Amino acid sequence: MFMNFWYPMCTSAELGKDPVAVTALGLDFVLFRDSAGRAACLSDTCVHRGGSLAAGRATSDCIECPYHGWRFDQAGQCVRIPSLGRDGRVPGRVRVDAYPTEERYGLVFAFLGDLPGEERPPIMRIEEYGDGGVREGWRQTIQVFDFPINYQRSVENGLDFAHNEFVHPTHGFSYQNEDTYEVAPLELIETPWGIGAWNRMFAPPLADKAMREASGRVEENAFVSVGLGHVGAASIWTWIHPTEQFWIHQYLFEKPVARDRTIIYFVTLRNFLLAPEHDQRMIGRNEHVVFQDRDVLRKVRPLLSPEVPRQEYLVPADKPVGRYRELLREWTARGWRIDSDEIEASRHRRIYAIPCPARRSVKGWVLDPVPTAREPGA
Ligand code: FES
Ligand SMILES: [Fe+2]
Repeated sequence: MFMNFWYPMCTSAELGKDPVAVTALGLDFVLFRDSAGRAACLSDTCVHRGGSLAAGRATSDCIECPYHGWRFDQAGQCVRIPSLGRDGRVPGRVRVDAYPTEERYGLVFAFLGDLPGEERPPIMRIEEYGDGGVREGWRQTIQVFDFPINYQRSVENGLDFAHNEFVHPTHGFSYQNEDTYEVAPLELIETPWGIGAWNRMFAPPLADKAMREASGRVEENAFVSVGLGHVGAASIWTWIHPTEQFWIHQYLFEKPVARDRTIIYFVTLRNFLLAPEHDQRMIGRNEHVVFQDRDVLRKVRPLLSPEVPRQEYLVPADKPVGRYRELLREWTARGWRIDSDEIEASRHRRIYAIPCPARRSVKGWVLDPVPTAREPGA
């Protein structure tokens, strides 16, 4: 799992007046809002004696530890230690890591890493958003899936054209026309912090009657254009164009919770059947398809994608997966891969924090920064 990317921590709707506990990249965080409604994200472990801040309460623009009442502000600085008395001075070193947050697309994102603002990889952009929210002519739905799979396997599945016809029979190919099936040579589009590719697949009309009618497609089978790609370690996009005018754009912001668990914030934009009463059609179709993926992925072995090339036999249709793995190796070389083996091995006696940007200028932190790995597999 990689630090130095933006990750979706929860939906905006989930973060109300009470703090929310979030696990990401195998570490614990607390999210809370100040009195103006701004979201903050801190490392969850209180540096006094290990209380879980998320079990405390949000008060006076701070989070208060439930154990001895120490208060930490949104920058992670402790501003109150009740046992020192009213005039007690709080040492500057009593602070926890605080991560930049941003609310967008109905989600709360946190930047889990220490890069300064201008060096950070971006949050994957949803093209159908303008300054005032979702652009006219589009309608958004959000779904949250909690799966017992590794995020890298999930991203690779999103970059894989060749699984569609087998895992999702609704997408067209059936065993009757096996002879004509192939994936055309893929041309990769290099994008900032990722790659993309386009392909066409032969598909029957949409199963849902209203959607089928809205698409205007009459042929029994026709080609559908599909684009896909990733941005950073754990965000993928899929654009499905059954016709020139009827488009489904999916954006999957994935949160690696642990190596064997991933929560996917699945945002769909559609440019048809815009009334809210049609949301359920989109939600139902997504669920159907995503569960098919999950069922295949939970049985894939090993749990983590091997990065030693000879341990899997890749073919040209796996080109996007191969390029994604190359990028992960580059980010590993930058020291962004967290050594989860080490963290798990010592978790009963030692707690780490992902270094936050303030660590670049402030020294003397109580928790050690996470160990990083130079090798694949973590
Ligand atoms: S452990 Fe948090 S205040 Fe003591
Ligand atoms: Fe799939």
